[in-house]
Amino acid sequence: MNPGIIAITGASGLLGSALCARLAASGWRVRALSRARPASLPRGSTHHACDLPGSIDESAFEGAHAVIHAAYSMRSRGREEDRRTNLDGSARVLHLARRAKARFVFVSSVSAHDAAQGFYGQSKLAVEHTLDPERDLIIRPGLILSKEAGLFARMRRTISTTGLAPLFGGGRQIIQTIHLDDLTLAFQRALELDLTGTLTVCEPTGLTIRDLFLLTARLERRPLRIVPLPFGPAIAALRLAESLRLRLPVSSDNLLGLRSMRLTDPVESLRRLGITPRDAATSLADLLADAPRGGAAP
Ligand SMILES: NC(=O)c1ccc[n+]([C@@H]2O[C@H](COP(=O)([O-])OP(=O)(O)OC[C@H]3O[C@@H](n4cnc5c(N)ncnc54)[C@H](OP(=O)(O)O)[C@@H]3O)[C@@H](O)[C@H]2O)c1
Repeated sequence: MNPGIIAITGASGLLGSALCARLAASGWRVRALSRARPASLPRGSTHHACDLPGSIDESAFEGAHAVIHAAYSMRSRGREEDRRTNLDGSARVLHLARRAKARFVFVSSVSAHDAAQGFYGQSKLAVEHTLDPERDLIIRPGLILSKEAGLFARMRRTISTTGLAPLFGGGRQIIQTIHLDDLTLAFQRALELDLTGTLTVCEPTGLTIRDLFLLTARLERRPLRIVPLPFGPAIAALRLAESLRLRLPVSSDNLLGLRSMRLTDPVESLRRLGITPRDAATSLADLLADAPRGGAAP
């Protein structure tokens, strides 16, 4: 597909803003959809209001060749609101993409599988099931590694401010990561090649979450104390905190997702895309290269 008009939801977020930047730089005319107007938009892009599920500027879809649906609410006030935003909201964006006859690209996750225990993975899979593999594209990224935001950035801040790594269930779960730049390249390639179906975009091997913490601390030259926590009581405590509307860096749903994490094979997807993403060690070395150092090496 040649670059044309593309509508991107979640344009204020980590991935959405990076997609707006990459696709605008490669010739797409970007329509950025988000609740609040992002602080900066790439040259030539326009902003359109989008508060899912109900309020959406439909003019963003007129004449669009492709729609990337990256918006997702991970921290809302309750399950019913989560359903409305992520399930009804996705159905609404899909309807508008269909009406515009645009290629629909859904940002799913490697957490979307039949054995997913958390609402996150289950809701991603539920949306996938509403799509047509012959005409739509589903991209399932691994854990996005980025300096600015996201789970990894929060994990890194915890290490650098407290020197502690909370490890749930022994930290043996395998995490497959993807550098933000490699992921946005994958979207660009998928659009250029007009791909449909499901693409898994992450490093093939992955590493345990324990090793991800240790590697981050080593590159940051921070001493690290591992704090082992069992899943069951941690999930119960987080549910209690959530019922009291307390906001913590991790949610019970994050832990359910982590507990049901499984190794996935991206090799065929990467071959279709013609990309070789960095592994976690190479991504971290890149992202932490100019990080301020503190503490002694562990
Ligand atoms: N980060 C990862 O490691 C990772 C891995 C795999 C898949 N993904 C997927 O990638 C996509 C983007 O994730 P991200 O890491 O960029 O998350 P993010 O930074 O939290 O961005 C989420 C975006 O969704 C928007 N949003 C939330 N609720 C909304 C609502 N009710 N109406 C309209 N927009 C709403 C947010 O807007 P506001 O700024 O207004 O809140 C934000 O722009 C998600 O679909 C996520 O599931 C992420």
